[in-house]
Amino acid sequence: MASVRFDPAGPLRGSLRPPADKSISHRAALIAAMGDPGQETTIEGYLDSADTRSTLAAIQALGAEVEGVGAGAIEPTIKVRGVGLRGARPASIDVGNAGTLLRLLPGWLAGHPEGAWTLDGDDSIRRRPVDRIATPLRAMGARVSCRDDRLPPLGIEAAPLRGVEHELPIASAQVKSCLLFAGLLAEGETWVHEPARSRDHTERMLAAAGAQVAWLSGGVQVRPAKRLEPGELAIPADFSSAAFFLVAALLVPGSEVALEEVNTNPTRTGLLRILARMGAEVEVEPVGERGGEPIGTIRARASRLRGAEIGGEEVPLAIDELPLVALAACFAEGETTIRDAAELRRKESDRVASTCAALRALGGEAEPLEDGMRIEGGGGLRGGAVASHGDHRIAMLGAVAGRASREGVAVEGMEAAAVSYPGFEADLGSLG
Ligand code: S3P
Repeated sequence: MASVRFDPAGPLRGSLRPPADKSISHRAALIAAMGDPGQETTIEGYLDSADTRSTLAAIQALGAEVEGVGAGAIEPTIKVRGVGLRGARPASIDVGNAGTLLRLLPGWLAGHPEGAWTLDGDDSIRRRPVDRIATPLRAMGARVSCRDDRLPPLGIEAAPLRGVEHELPIASAQVKSCLLFAGLLAEGETWVHEPARSRDHTERMLAAAGAQVAWLSGGVQVRPAKRLEPGELAIPADFSSAAFFLVAALLVPGSEVALEEVNTNPTRTGLLRILARMGAEVEVEPVGERGGEPIGTIRARASRLRGAEIGGEEVPLAIDELPLVALAACFAEGETTIRDAAELRRKESDRVASTCAALRALGGEAEPLEDGMRIEGGGGLRGGAVASHGDHRIAMLGAVAGRASREGVAVEGMEAAAVSYPGFEADLGSLG
């Protein structure tokens, strides 16, 4: 395991374009694989990270042909010849560390006319619950099995599906996307209702590929499809990756950074609204669209922050950035409370535990709550050593904490960053 030090090194200055969006890259590969064998889908600027490589390997195992990876480009343009909506061949799939692949792919496979598949992954994946997809898929007629009826490995056998109206107990884009994929192969309409909005990349991409997807009375509806025509797909820069630099700029005195061509889809940018409440000086300049998603330049400068209460509907819109909110809260005046975020405990690590452990190890006052955290701010962070727990976002959080701390931070397990952002250390270095 690599231990890497991040020391205070003065203000962060300059601009960069963060890497391609991980969430959207997974979806692009899967939807491209659903295209007919006779048609080629181009994906411009696919994220080349550990997680998204797992997805390319998965679609290849299912019979799709992929060209253009491994050519040395960080964001290659890849070409995918799909297997058709009902043509995936039987396979045992290693999802690696990719929770999104684990949750999305079964929805597509479950409704096939024939075939059987297994999905398994690393130690962290084996702790990620899959009953959240198995239960609603079974309500559609799917034949799905999992360990202790809750955990991977996951087995799927092809079965005829019927459309169902789902009421999700927790807002989850992964579960919603899984059920929308299943709905493409089901008989009748499938509806997904969520208690709060979650990211809508799947709906956007499916609609662009010709599927009948509609947003009606607080839910998403999908109708069965004969075929998809994904055509040309393009991936915008990842807001969740941009968020590390944005928060670093807020915390290190004298900083001012611009993050370019970042996806500003409102179902992803809850962090911006939370930070605005905390007093952050952040501006978004829209610059158009990429791959059916709005993009913009995000400018952030060092700011005096105050504590805030975070909870309710804003949680799914900032779910992956909540550890960064907790970090910022250590530098803010007063108390910050994050509630309604028990889902954080079920990510690549238990992010309530791993975030609080990291912040406390660095001299912060962070108390884990059952469904979130409470942070007493004002003192900033002294520095010290943190463990990534194999979680890419905790590794990068440690690096940002190091730049903002008084004495620097050693991050144990920094290599985990490659799951979503292989060039992270170099990019952080390039900003000063
Ligand atoms: C993701 C959705 C979120 C998020 C994850 C990626 C996606 O999970 O935490 O990193 O790509 O759909 P949930 O949908 O389970 O909240």
